[in-house]
Amino acid sequence: MVVARKWIYVKPFDGLPKDENFKLEEETLPEPADNEFLAEAEFLSVDPYMRPYMASYPAGSLMIGGQVAKVTASRNDSFPVGSYVFGNFGWRTHTIVNPDKVSGDSKPYVLPSFGQHPRSLAVGVLGMPGNTAYFGFLELCRPKEGETVVVSGAAGAVGSVVGQIAKIKGCRVVGIAGTAAKCEWLRQLGFDATINYREVGQDGFSAALKECAPKGVDCYFDNVGGYISAAVLAQMNLYGRISVCGTISNYNDARVQVPDPQREFVFKQLCQEGFIVTRWNKRWMEGIMQNLRWIEEGKLSYQETVTEGFEQMPKAFVSMLTGGNTGKAVVKV
Ligand SMILES: NC(=O)c1ccc[n+]([C@@H]2O[C@H](COP(=O)([O-])OP(=O)(O)OC[C@H]3O[C@@H](n4cnc5c(N)ncnc54)[C@H](OP(=O)(O)O)[C@@H]3O)[C@@H](O)[C@H]2O)c1
Repeated sequence: MVVARKWIYVKPFDGLPKDENFKLEEETLPEPADNEFLAEAEFLSVDPYMRPYMASYPAGSLMIGGQVAKVTASRNDSFPVGSYVFGNFGWRTHTIVNPDKVSGDSKPYVLPSFGQHPRSLAVGVLGMPGNTAYFGFLELCRPKEGETVVVSGAAGAVGSVVGQIAKIKGCRVVGIAGTAAKCEWLRQLGFDATINYREVGQDGFSAALKECAPKGVDCYFDNVGGYISAAVLAQMNLYGRISVCGTISNYNDARVQVPDPQREFVFKQLCQEGFIVTRWNKRWMEGIMQNLRWIEEGKLSYQETVTEGFEQMPKAFVSMLTGGNTGKAVVKV
């Protein structure tokens, strides 16, 4: 008999998540039935989307999220005992899974071999965030050699990969991040210029961007929204492309007010498109295997900020929302 621990969303978020929003509970699991397997979590992901998405779940729901888990019992030949899987099983240590009953968008899958790289990358550069960078940037920004690419949230799980892919494609890359240490890491990764947005402040941001992108901006990969994106928009070049990935600057607040952007779209003939990475579900392994190849060729580096202990999930989540992570925020059970 296995006792699972799980984090329940007990009170709707108001501003930044707090301890009172979460409750740790236990649940005794039955043996797997026909076609089911038992998954034991090894690494769990904390991601920004959990903050806005949970708003549509009632209090008492399991916290949503992806994890890397080991199959420890199985009555499903496609998920043998001893294999490692990625699954959107939520914030829980043990899960009984029937893959046929999981919706098409979040079917579990057995991890491909990552060589000598850690399995935790399956929730990072070799998983959803890496694919968000790969598809969201290449498909929507359509970068050309020599173009200037700006990435906000650049030192995070998605942004750090976007900037490196832009370098692989021969672009000049400007990264925006919230600390000097993060900016230093981005320059080590090959970013041509960085802006510490907390240091220059809202008033100094446009001037800093002009200095870093003197020829204007051809592609903008937007992870944050708000005043940063309004300022980048004003410096876009003719026929610029904007991939809107996320708006973390307002996940914990009411929507920020920015000036009406429509003028820029008309006169510069810009193209802006939002996306959810599951749009490319049918090409999922293409993104993972390409990012793995780039890692093995030394063209793509990664960093993880690992928190130890399942009981630390809420703490790791809040830390990520407030910039405590460099690269991918992960929790090791
Ligand atoms: N569309 C999709 O399918 C999809 C998929 C995955 C992720 N996303 C989005 O992509 C973005 C990045 O996700 P991620 O997983 O890579 O997270 P992440 O960047 O690893 O972590 C979040 C980071 O956001 C930054 N941040 C927090 N508040 C901010 C603010 N007010 N202004 C600017 N930056 C702020 C912090 O870094 P600093 O220290 O630099 O502030 C923090 O480290 C999020 O908006 C997320 O919702 C979208």
